Amino acid sequence: MNGHNCELNEEIRNPSNEPEVSEYIWNIAKIPEVWQELSNLSHNGEDDISKKDNNNFETSFKHNFDVAGIAEEFADCHGCSQRDKRVFITAALLHDIGKVEVDPKILTSKEKISEHDWKKISQHPGEGWKICQRIAANLDDPEMKKEMSNIIAEIVLRHHFYVETGGYPPVEYLHIKEEPDEERLVKDLAEKISMFDVFDAIVSKRSYNQSIDKNMEEVRDILNSKFPDQVDVTEFLVNNFK
Ligand SMILES: [Fe+2]
Ligand SMILES: [Fe+2]
Repeated sequence: MNGHNCELNEEIRNPSNEPEVSEYIWNIAKIPEVWQELSNLSHNGEDDISKKDNNNFETSFKHNFDVAGIAEEFADCHGCSQRDKRVFITAALLHDIGKVEVDPKILTSKEKISEHDWKKISQHPGEGWKICQRIAANLDDPEMKKEMSNIIAEIVLRHHFYVETGGYPPVEYLHIKEEPDEERLVKDLAEKISMFDVFDAIVSKRSYNQSIDKNMEEVRDILNSKFPDQVDVTEFLVNNFK
């Protein structure tokens, strides 16, 4: 992805095969408790899958960083508070972490997905919520612990829950926050990460989406039909990442 209208943090790292990301994202990714889980997404340790399948895991790893990169640019262009930016980027980095619990053969299958396999895939937001709880349990800082278990985990859980047009998990699986400001933040950031996720999936042409080209009009139509109340965010994506 390249081309942007806003100022970007130009500091990037790419030692060996690590994704090119800003220092800000890198510092979050390298929090030991976070890195321990993220690195599982890079190499899942399965012996019986082909190199191609392993590459898909590495693609998932990179995809999480790509979505975090979009979140960072959005946060910087829209003057997010430091707290909201930190939450936004951490949740973006971890949004698909639950895929470590899905058999790579299912994730990389070119066949039509069976009902059984779809059920497995659709569990990854819930698995991600559990992994965030595990990260929270290992964090020492009480503030970070609370943020991870209460807010970031919930955003991860909701990243395929589309407010307007459906999705998963069903609404009764969400933990609606009693505090209105907290609920607003979770809902808002989860919806934006959902959009960045769909956008990145389309423009990266991942294996299960190869037929969709990078035509931005098409991307705009897909996003507008899925997220009809978020036209401004769609325009931000289409105009900043070409
Ligand atoms: Fe996902
Ligand atoms: Fe994703």
